Amino acid sequence: MTAKTLIAPSVLSSDFSRLGEEVEAVAAAGADWIHLDVMDGHFVPNITFGPSVIKAIRGRTDKVFDCHLMIAPADPYLAAFAEAGCDIITVHAEAGPHLDRSLQTIRDLGKRAGVSLNPSTPESVIEYVLDRLDLILLMTVNPGFGGQAFIPAVVEKVRRVKALIGERPIDIEIDGGVTPQTAPLVAAAGANVLVAGSAVFKGGNSQAYAANIEAIRNAADGALRKAA
Ligand code: DX5
Ligand code: ZN
Repeated sequence: MTAKTLIAPSVLSSDFSRLGEEVEAVAAAGADWIHLDVMDGHFVPNITFGPSVIKAIRGRTDKVFDCHLMIAPADPYLAAFAEAGCDIITVHAEAGPHLDRSLQTIRDLGKRAGVSLNPSTPESVIEYVLDRLDLILLMTVNPGFGGQAFIPAVVEKVRRVKALIGERPIDIEIDGGVTPQTAPLVAAAGANVLVAGSAVFKGGNSQAYAANIEAIRNAADGALRKAA
């Protein structure tokens, strides 16, 4: 069976001293997208990197750059992330008062627009922006750090979001605590893109990354086969 579930390794768990090589290694290991976690020390209690670092690694792969902005405000920086080479730009619904405007801005920049919801945020906040969305990123941990435990209560939210989007071509992406054990739960509920940081980068080399990516993808696709 051809793979259905896309895997987006988060470079947050990579060796930052060799970031360009890590992006190349994970791309060669079968990553579908490269997930870039941007944190500001204000919206979330951690700081990572910004557009200049993304621009510096853009040339290392042709894979989709999936940019997860955990910053508030986000609007003043959207153009910079577009120029840096991000293909998908995702803002948090909790990060600003004008979600509709943020999404319009991202599409006006020629990029795919995503919204992310923290575990405690109800899916009703996206009801009136569905037609402006290319991706919905549901957090299964509280954003800020890699290596946290998956929050099972979000699985029900995945089901509700899947029902909410109906036939619209919107990706449902899951972020936080994704492993071969948790991947089947969210895949069966309707998620088609899985972010994984620690579960992909453990082992520290391209061979390990390939095995880790395959294990997550197989677990997710196995759940889809069972459901079919
Ligand atoms: C958390 C980030 C995630 C993180 C996931 O705030 O948005 O992308 O890297 O890490 P794991 O897969 O280790 O939970
Ligand atoms: Zn993320």
